[in-house]
Amino acid sequence: MVAVSPTGTSRRMWLVLSLVFCLTGIAAVPTRAADPAICLDAKAEQRIDALLAKMTLEEKLGQLTQQTGPGENYNPDAPNQKDRDLFGAVRAGKLGSVLNAHGAELTNKLQSEAVERSRLGIPVLFGNDVIHGYRTIFPIPLGEAATWDPALIEKSAIVAATEAGAAGTRWTFAPMVDICRDGRWGRVAEGAGEDPFLGSVIAAARVRGFQKGNPAAHDALVACAKHFAAYGAPEGGRDYNTVDLSEQRLREVYLPPFKAAVDAGVGTLMSAFNDIDGVPATANPLTLRHVLREEWGFRGFVVSDWCSITEMVAHGYATDDGDAAVKAILAGVDMDMSSFSYRTHLGDAVMAGIVSEQTIDEAVRRVLRIKTLAGLFDDPYVDPALEKKVILCDENRRAARDVARHSIVLAKNEGAVLPIGERVKSIAVIGPLADNHEAPLGTWSLIGRSQDVISALEGIRKRAGSQCEVRYAKGCEVLGGDDKGITGAAALAKDCDMAIVVVGESADMSGEAHSRAGLDLPGRQLDLVKAVRATGVPMAVVLMNGRPMSISWTAENVPAILIAWHLGVECGPAIADVLFGDFNPSGKLPITFPRSVGQVPIYYNHTNTGRPPTDKRYTSKYIDLPWTPLYPFGYGLSYTQFEFSDLVVTPQQIGPAGSVKVSAKVRNTGSRAGDEIAQLYIRDLVASRVRPVKELRGFQRVSLEPGETKDVTFTLTPESLGFYNSDMQFVVEPGEFAVWIGPNSADGIEGRFQVSSEAD
Ligand code: NOJ
Repeated sequence: MVAVSPTGTSRRMWLVLSLVFCLTGIAAVPTRAADPAICLDAKAEQRIDALLAKMTLEEKLGQLTQQTGPGENYNPDAPNQKDRDLFGAVRAGKLGSVLNAHGAELTNKLQSEAVERSRLGIPVLFGNDVIHGYRTIFPIPLGEAATWDPALIEKSAIVAATEAGAAGTRWTFAPMVDICRDGRWGRVAEGAGEDPFLGSVIAAARVRGFQKGNPAAHDALVACAKHFAAYGAPEGGRDYNTVDLSEQRLREVYLPPFKAAVDAGVGTLMSAFNDIDGVPATANPLTLRHVLREEWGFRGFVVSDWCSITEMVAHGYATDDGDAAVKAILAGVDMDMSSFSYRTHLGDAVMAGIVSEQTIDEAVRRVLRIKTLAGLFDDPYVDPALEKKVILCDENRRAARDVARHSIVLAKNEGAVLPIGERVKSIAVIGPLADNHEAPLGTWSLIGRSQDVISALEGIRKRAGSQCEVRYAKGCEVLGGDDKGITGAAALAKDCDMAIVVVGESADMSGEAHSRAGLDLPGRQLDLVKAVRATGVPMAVVLMNGRPMSISWTAENVPAILIAWHLGVECGPAIADVLFGDFNPSGKLPITFPRSVGQVPIYYNHTNTGRPPTDKRYTSKYIDLPWTPLYPFGYGLSYTQFEFSDLVVTPQQIGPAGSVKVSAKVRNTGSRAGDEIAQLYIRDLVASRVRPVKELRGFQRVSLEPGETKDVTFTLTPESLGFYNSDMQFVVEPGEFAVWIGPNSADGIEGRFQVSSEAD
């Protein structure tokens, strides 16, 4: 067994472990210094010390307070009372941060109150939910995750930062790195899906993109990894609901993307609404103090979620708002979003000796550190001319289109219905989402505008040009609708060479507080699909979705399916690119699609049970549905075909601290150029705790011309092979491992290797 430290076990604990392992002949892997990104030079730290020495307790609590701004409702010529109060609070040094204040004009104005008229001139940090674009809206994060392409995802975050930064935002409440195994949860749309490995790679890419390596740049944002922690595991998929999980699962599934964000230099984290095993995440010493500060050495600051401090009263964890404030600050939440609990109560708590002023100072120091790193003390204003220049510029739209087409997953293409060939002279574009300009914006589109969106119909029309007639029928509403529309749409389909049916969810069917109890196509949309199918016209379904959906009938009966998510402003062109074959799809599902909501939670990296499902009676399955998913994690087709062969594992035996190389050949056996995402999975076959049947540990995009073959090679290190044992030590245990390289989590070619107890 080798102990490694993927989550940065504290140095002292590490020395103890090393000693134990040395005595038992087991090697230890040293930790690396944590969080070097949030280090200021001595001069900057001294400036913070000097500022702290001048601050009153009230001013300190002001820095720990965040208040909402007017959003889009600000009228500079006639500010209302609320706006005047906001300006007054900034001037009085009662606010360290404002959220929901957009645009260079408003943020500059508010900033001047802070910098030029408050007693100490400390700048305000403007934060906003820049989740998948600012004005140039990109695919929802779950859609972007389907690219399996960290460079593209980083690019998306860079564009978002460039636009938002020019408009005065300096802090984004993103990335949301919550792992989710339950598609009912509305916020699954905002994350990277079900897998901690993929989620970690994407978390780091988003942090790099938003922060651009230099949050002080005007076009960079301080990122915020949220929601710390385990918010994506609510019981029943119901938002804000109870989370109860083992510490092992917390550490292996839910924490790794946060660690990856911290390693990538994320400036802030947001605490979650939920409780974890009975202790609210907003006052949770295990996650906030022990893991985040002591194990990972995080030096940025933690903001609460919206009123999540005061909500600890409703949880039944605090007697009142004051008690909640004390519990949150002592656990390590530095800034209070919206509940004003800190500003109202912590002064009294300090006077009463319940909270030390040193605790307050530490929190203020962390906030001032991030303001310094964001360059706010040196350069607090933004240039309105730049805002106009960059927002929704052509270059940004081009980037959005590229990410959008890479996000599309080809789930089925029987009889090569797609791409649309030149013989198709008329297309019926059908469905309530076909010419919809709101749905593609998805959840959290901030200042995204429906008028910026190119609908699927518009994209298809433009691409079809004059050689192919494109006709349209809505058919039904997303919810509701009647037979008349459905009959008319089917009649239109019958009259055309081909039908494209665009169905799914509207933007407001996913996102915060938008969990669903069902995952089927809403309203009459399945009837619409069935009616078009009954015509016998060649057809494809384009699914617009904010979550994995149960589309079993469609999957069985419709020859071609594109899973297109909510794709953003360039939705139409991206869909047309794929439909007409100008772009060969390469997207892969970042989350399992169930056959029915009754299978949920369903995820690929489950354990085996003592009675794994077979056709036999007393095994772990359902009597009314197969146990397998509709589409597995990692799944997605291409207009060409790929073949995996020649898996080689070297060496076939390693010591406990050793690494192993796994390679395979990938060949394009079809007739078009295309990209495959080669995926590497492992299984630790026997261990002191049962291990998942498969775990993703690597992936690579391979671009192949027809007939071309390339090698893919992955290296597995102790960090990829270990797990948390019953003592919460991260260990690699001796024994046999299976390894697969393949096109998704259900297929692949297999090899084996041994970890011996002897050092190599
Ligand atoms: C509540 C959401 O949970 C969080 O993700 C968001 O950043 C804040 N509101 C601010 O809008």
